[in-house]
Amino acid sequence: MKRVNVAIVGYGVVGNGVAKVLTEKKDLLAKKSQVDINLKKVYTRNWNKEFTFPLPEEKRAKSLDEILKDPDIDIVVELTGGIDFPLYLMKEAINRGKHIVSANKALLAEKGKEIFTLAEEKGIRIGFEAAVAGGIPIIRALREGLVANTINRIYGILNGTTNFILTKMLKEGRDFKEVLQEAQRLGYAEADPTLDINGTDAAHKIAILSSLSFGGFIDFSRVYIEGIQDISTLDVELGRELGYTLKLLAIAKNHNDKVEVRVHPTFLPSEHPLSKVDGVFNAVMVEGDCVGESMFYGKGAGSLPTASSVVSDIVDIAKSIALGVGREIEITSMNWAHREFVPMANTDFQTRYYLRFTVPDITGILAKVSQVFAKYQISIAAVIQKEKVLSIAKETQDKVVPLVILTHTASELNVQKAIKEIEDKRITVEKTRLIRVEDEEK
Ligand code: HSE
Repeated sequence: MKRVNVAIVGYGVVGNGVAKVLTEKKDLLAKKSQVDINLKKVYTRNWNKEFTFPLPEEKRAKSLDEILKDPDIDIVVELTGGIDFPLYLMKEAINRGKHIVSANKALLAEKGKEIFTLAEEKGIRIGFEAAVAGGIPIIRALREGLVANTINRIYGILNGTTNFILTKMLKEGRDFKEVLQEAQRLGYAEADPTLDINGTDAAHKIAILSSLSFGGFIDFSRVYIEGIQDISTLDVELGRELGYTLKLLAIAKNHNDKVEVRVHPTFLPSEHPLSKVDGVFNAVMVEGDCVGESMFYGKGAGSLPTASSVVSDIVDIAKSIALGVGREIEITSMNWAHREFVPMANTDFQTRYYLRFTVPDITGILAKVSQVFAKYQISIAAVIQKEKVLSIAKETQDKVVPLVILTHTASELNVQKAIKEIEDKRITVEKTRLIRVEDEEK
């Protein structure tokens, strides 16, 4: 049986999981793949820590060169996080003819063009199943299982940490900070959890899925991103009354000449399958012209779910090395239409909106708001005004209450103009809250 040597760089939550699976399931993997996959070395900057899967001394590399300069190492598994160091590592490894497996969505989304172009030149494979949606094999599904389809829409819940936080906050009334700490303890969050909370992590993942679905690199700097940091329970409750559930949704749509790639808190109809995806679970909906709508569901973060995907890439590359055909060029499937996409600005979005105005409870307010809506051709689908008093206006002593308007599909540019006009005219007393709604018109 041919032996393929693997090295891991970065020995954190996922690295420990990958080493555990490669070690404890060595025989099973050999039976399934007919390759002897050998974990030869692991490198981390600091070996003086506690590990969930401690390694024997002979597997602990003291320097990166022990891996990069070892001609017997066939596959380098990059599990370091960040951008600069892994970019250097990958380029060095590619230039030395080593295949790559990476879970680094930030790197692939932001520097994908550079890495895949170099890999293509050198005939190197890059596996990145673990970069998107943890244990869900969505990359392979798009590349292989759904290859017959033209995909014009792909969307889903792509960040386990924020879905875990939203679920615990909304269903158990738990405190944001406390739940975030739990997500960190469980190994779900990024080393810098602001990337989870502010939507960047989900944006990296939807950019990668967009590339695979639409066939082009995405200019990541133009992806529209909003996180969950400003979510208020009042909006969640009012949305629920209107029949919606709040999720941090990543959405990609191909309009042929333009793509829409965006991440933001989104109201989904409560009966929508994604509304039922809770905790650390992720789910991806893919709309293919042959298959229709398909949903992929599973754990989106954590040591072993992510290791499951990393190992799938290791086995896949090891098999092709063993068979001597290991030079498939991944760029052809990441950028198969040979395009580069600049995602559209949010002012070009056309969707439905939940708008919460904070207004004095006096005669004529609703009429004033609807006049502005009419001016900007925004059609109202539903209105709720609550008697719940949020505060008392200082000057007039009027009760201040929430006024919620759900719109039909409207232009975001017009919605923003309407909000500005309503705020400038001081019809409202606080900043308006806007949450996009992903719902077909009934
Ligand atoms: N921090 C990420 C998440 C890990 O919570 O989804 C998986 O990419």
